[in-house]
Amino acid sequence: MKFRKVVVTGAQGQLGQALQEAFVEHEVVSLDITDLDISQLEPVRKTLEHIRPDIVINAAAFTQVDQAENDQESAYRGNALGPRNLARATEEMGIPLVHFSTDYVFDGSQSRPYHEFDRTNPRSVYGQSKLAGEEEVQKNNPRNYIIRTAWLYHVVGKNFPLTMLRLANQEQVRVVSDQFGSPTYAPHLAKAVSCLIETESYGTFHLAGSGGTSWYDFTQALYQASDIQTAVVPITSADYPLPAPRPAYSILTSLQDPAISLPPWEVGVRDFTTQLKESKT
Ligand SMILES: NC(=O)c1ccc[n+]([C@@H]2O[C@H](COP(=O)([O-])OP(=O)(O)OC[C@H]3O[C@@H](n4cnc5c(N)ncnc54)[C@H](OP(=O)(O)O)[C@@H]3O)[C@@H](O)[C@H]2O)c1
Repeated sequence: MKFRKVVVTGAQGQLGQALQEAFVEHEVVSLDITDLDISQLEPVRKTLEHIRPDIVINAAAFTQVDQAENDQESAYRGNALGPRNLARATEEMGIPLVHFSTDYVFDGSQSRPYHEFDRTNPRSVYGQSKLAGEEEVQKNNPRNYIIRTAWLYHVVGKNFPLTMLRLANQEQVRVVSDQFGSPTYAPHLAKAVSCLIETESYGTFHLAGSGGTSWYDFTQALYQASDIQTAVVPITSADYPLPAPRPAYSILTSLQDPAISLPPWEVGVRDFTTQLKESKT
């Protein structure tokens, strides 16, 4: 094990919680926003210098995609300034920074999966602020892992499958069928991260559930795995307008080491359903 002491920022988020579970063999110091607001440089420096970790994993972000359209300042504070501060502080300490980005850095105009070297062109404020965060991390700490992921979910937090399960008491649910992405079960991502950091080969990586699907087929698979009979009705994105534009197609693939890929997204649905059942018993 290369890194003994690990700091996780944004520890109360869905990925933050999955990381804490995946790194049980490490000494993990978990910091939520009340312990450390990453958008403040001096507290970031002081906190990290006090803890003296071997690596920092940043799971903190401003993730409210629609709210970001009207609150650019908060989006850039959380998604660009925060990562810059962490990158500066970790660089000063000579330690690596793991940072997460998103499929929303792409515009969705491609019809084949996006790899790490495809051209970015974010269409939403959220995507633009996350791309700015990638650039700040790259500029400020050469020991960086930038991990782009997508359609993230866990048994805790706010996410699409938990919303679909909540809505399943309706006669039918209407779900967008013309947007395609890579659903990613947070514990699968966290485990892959624990393998990736052992390689010490820095750079930008796509880590998301393998394969791709639409929100509609994702819901069908979820209901099937959960023995739910509620009808799922396909609709178009135009039928469900939202403030922030989403890429129509943002399935991720990776040109990097296939040994660090995630299981197929369908396995994520299965493991999520099992975990949810276990947490209720
Ligand atoms: N969710 C997705 O579908 C998705 C898809 C692609 C990529 N990602 C990326 O994956 C990463 C993890 O996402 P997630 O879904 O786990 O997010 P999440 O559940 O929203 O968790 C983010 C956490 O960061 C905290 N936070 C916000 N601003 C902060 C600040 N300035 N300082 C410290 N903490 C702060 C939040 O606290 P509050 O809740 O109190 O604000 C929250 O606990 C993010 O980088 C995100 O952009 C997510």
